[in-house]
Amino acid sequence: MKHLLSTEDLSLTDAVRILDTAEEMAAVGEREVKKLPALRGRTVVNLFFEDSTRTRISFEAAAKRLSADVINFAAKGSSVSKGESLKDTAQTLEAMSADAVVIRHWASGAPARLAASGWIDAAVINAGDGTHEHPTQALLDAFTLRRHVCALAGRSSTGEDLRGLRIVIVGDVLHSRVARSNLWLLNTLGAEVTLVAPPTLFPVGIQAWPCKVSFDLDEALADNPHAIMMLRVQGERMNAAFFPSAREYSRTWGFDDDRLAALEATAGKDTIIMHPGPMNRGLEISSAAADSPRSTILAQVRNGVSVRMAALYLLLSGEDTATTTPAQE
Ligand code: CP
Repeated sequence: MKHLLSTEDLSLTDAVRILDTAEEMAAVGEREVKKLPALRGRTVVNLFFEDSTRTRISFEAAAKRLSADVINFAAKGSSVSKGESLKDTAQTLEAMSADAVVIRHWASGAPARLAASGWIDAAVINAGDGTHEHPTQALLDAFTLRRHVCALAGRSSTGEDLRGLRIVIVGDVLHSRVARSNLWLLNTLGAEVTLVAPPTLFPVGIQAWPCKVSFDLDEALADNPHAIMMLRVQGERMNAAFFPSAREYSRTWGFDDDRLAALEATAGKDTIIMHPGPMNRGLEISSAAADSPRSTILAQVRNGVSVRMAALYLLLSGEDTATTTPAQE
């Protein structure tokens, strides 16, 4: 692979290799010296046309742990406001040296356009494009599932897919690149996915997606899922006419205190609660649920650094962990 643009493109072998490499990166993160020399002399450019906290900073942390240099670009405050194009912006940054461009863009397809255009030679990593995909978020979610759910079931956290897991993804599916990337990747890894949303927040053609579809969160929860993934309500992309009131939304599709209590009352149930962040507390998830011991929200953030180290390492080091492991660096 030269680029990481989509989880739809990932084979089972590629996906498991990234997750296994991320496990090795996580082990490096537990050492006293957390840095590897693997990407010394390489430069990673973070090219962000939309706001971000977790993705941008964890790509920066990941690149620095691999000893790469990092250049951060935010469209706000740049010459984009003077009309500079994506091509000119990318070529300008590459002229100052770039081996990888990590791009977040409001336009679906912008990272694929950059990768296919020939405008730059650098590897392109999609850090979230419009409503299309957010592949590293799905990979860190899969990594979290493998560590939390598979570990509870006594399965190994390396070399494994997610066969047999039941995952419920809930909320604003219409606008969610996280839901799309997770759906493709979870299917590749063998998990069963149920999408739950208000009827107005499903995309046209949802029936053709490889998952179950439901409007009823309580019915989906009654199926004892291994994980519930709550999605952010994306107010900034929303047509208010299609959104139920906040009160109706949180009561019908939010993971609220009553649903948390119902989960706690079910003996022996180890269901974990996930959210990619940032959260609208009190809308799609209650504070009690977000902060409960079942929540993996901060573990997802921590795992994001290991997964992004793995992605950068596999794309830029020219090494396959089958021959050289990060631990041997
Ligand atoms: N999950 C996620 O993409 O968060 P940020 O928008 O903060 O990067």
